[in-house]
Amino acid sequence: MLNELQTKQALQQVLDSVELPKLTKKDEKVFLERLAQHFPSLIGQLHTLYGERYDFFLYLQKLVVVLAKAFAGRKRKWKNLDEKRLSNPSWYRSEKMLGMAVYVDLFAGDLKKLQMKIPYLKSLGINYLHLMPLYKAPEGDSDGGYAVSDYRKVDPKLGTEKDLAQLAEALSDEGISLVLDFVFNHTSDEHQWAEQARKGNPEFKDFYYFFTDKQEVEEYNQTCREIFPTVRRGSFTFLEDVEKYVWTTFNSFQWDLNYSNPAVFNAITDEMLFLANIGCEGLRLDALAFIWKEKWTQCESLPKAHTLIQCFNTCLQIAAPAVLFKSEAIVHPDEVAQYIDKQECQLSYNPLMMALMWESLATRETKLLTASLKKSFEISDQCSWVNYIRCHDDIGWTFDDAVAEQLGINGYEHRRFLNQFYTGKFDGSFSQGVPFQENPTTGDCRVCGSLASLAGLERAIEADDSQAIEHALKRIRLLNSINLSIGGIPLIYQGDELGILNDHSYLNDEFKREDARWVNRPQISPQAVALAETKGSYQHRINQDLKQMIALRRNHPEFGNAKTEILETYRSQLFAYCRTNAKGEQLLALCNFAESTQSIPASICDILGSRRPRDLLSGNQLVGEDILLAAYDVLWLKVTE
Ligand code: GLC
Ligand code: GLC
Repeated sequence: MLNELQTKQALQQVLDSVELPKLTKKDEKVFLERLAQHFPSLIGQLHTLYGERYDFFLYLQKLVVVLAKAFAGRKRKWKNLDEKRLSNPSWYRSEKMLGMAVYVDLFAGDLKKLQMKIPYLKSLGINYLHLMPLYKAPEGDSDGGYAVSDYRKVDPKLGTEKDLAQLAEALSDEGISLVLDFVFNHTSDEHQWAEQARKGNPEFKDFYYFFTDKQEVEEYNQTCREIFPTVRRGSFTFLEDVEKYVWTTFNSFQWDLNYSNPAVFNAITDEMLFLANIGCEGLRLDALAFIWKEKWTQCESLPKAHTLIQCFNTCLQIAAPAVLFKSEAIVHPDEVAQYIDKQECQLSYNPLMMALMWESLATRETKLLTASLKKSFEISDQCSWVNYIRCHDDIGWTFDDAVAEQLGINGYEHRRFLNQFYTGKFDGSFSQGVPFQENPTTGDCRVCGSLASLAGLERAIEADDSQAIEHALKRIRLLNSINLSIGGIPLIYQGDELGILNDHSYLNDEFKREDARWVNRPQISPQAVALAETKGSYQHRINQDLKQMIALRRNHPEFGNAKTEILETYRSQLFAYCRTNAKGEQLLALCNFAESTQSIPASICDILGSRRPRDLLSGNQLVGEDILLAAYDVLWLKVTE
């Protein structure tokens, strides 16, 4: 490690030896100040990764030029945004934050038409918009766009680079933060780097992991998890033409990048800053757990994976500090937590809460949810969860087996039960999901389906059972209520605001048929929107329930920057938490995860200092010694006078 003086000298040496692009006096000052401020982190992190190399300094020089060029090319609009966000660093913890994730084509048709949907988004209160991967990708199967062939080109089916730039500006003008995918674990095999590497071009041959020795590949396979076991066993693909194996954690056409090569780090940083300069404010770090590999490890969440992400973040702090990182670590909760840090990922998906809300609905018991969130919900107050109920992927049951064990739950058996339950195979299940990636060796499996179908609406409508329908609607409301109030940015997945059911049309498409996740990637048709606007429809009810809660969230600061305490209810069906902000404003949420009425003594409200709070949702003030919660009821309690 370098000391302070050596770091200063190193910076000076870099600046003396490279030619930086032309900048205005003011911009030059900003850039050099930021570079000086973050250089100790930058060089430290790079040194951890590449310090052993004789050419370390060369790559450092090149990186500084990449940063300077990106900064020079950054529009004034985004530079102003940088300043704005730096002066209010906790902006993303506001109660006004509300996210939505959409596919450009499925939601709007193309980028131009998406721009016309801004009023729709605003009418919902959306100010954070995640556009699913929209980059150039292989024809046919591209893993829903997660096989990127060119980070700088827009998929021509969605429009042009100019359309994207215009959309980014329009969103920003309307106060909507654009979030894009940073798919940096792999590229598609059609990316020019991959094509050059395949041809043996010396500049690119170490951009990916190639092996000629089958033995070595099998050694790695012994310790690595299989992600898509029904597509292909193991983590490698044999390339017949060049007689080599290439590392492919996901599909065979998604080649893992080799970050042990500093040229890859520099090249991807360049691509990342290109995305930042489109004007996005968030980058979703796709599959970030897999980016560093070491023999005889699981090759997931290794210490250097963290260093690598921190290093990317440092680059952003220098060249585009308005941009946040969102971690997509769908792994063990203790590992999820390790990515959440101001210096690493300011935002993170909350897969634990997502999975356990579903778990509690299936079991009608909240003990695993309560115990797990007590342990894992609290994160740095400079960071924020991105809470979600459904997304474009499957549901994996990523809870901590040790926590389950203490409650007498066997993790393995319980996951089997949950898979059975949510694929509707368990007797009495309300759910209608589709199994995904059953692993013949481990018996592991995940579940796909839309919020409404998994919560029971599809099955209840088929059975024409009005009570079952009522319960399904209330389950949806219950999950939405937690998502909106427990603390973090709520992320609504396209179509869930409209109560859209599973979409089986993917079975007719040869490129989608094998990937059940398409069952929850529906086209958002005008009819679906109209149905949700039609009074008396189930979809209208779902939509109205959601809108009511969104309006309450926006108007009460306790939903924003506040601390969450998960409470013990001593009632197996109830789940409770209390939010308190710096001004002492509080909200107590009580949720019933069962279809039977539950009661709890009003003394649970003592945390609010009054047993007579008002429920924001119904407007009713509590009376009496016991609080009653009907089937799947939710109370948002606040002392109002
Ligand atoms: C992420 C995406 C998923 C994709 C995978 C590979 O997990 O959410 O859809 O298959 O990464 O890019
Ligand atoms: C694995 C990955 C997760 C991804 C999913 C896609 O579970 O850990 O990141 O979303 O596969 O199916």
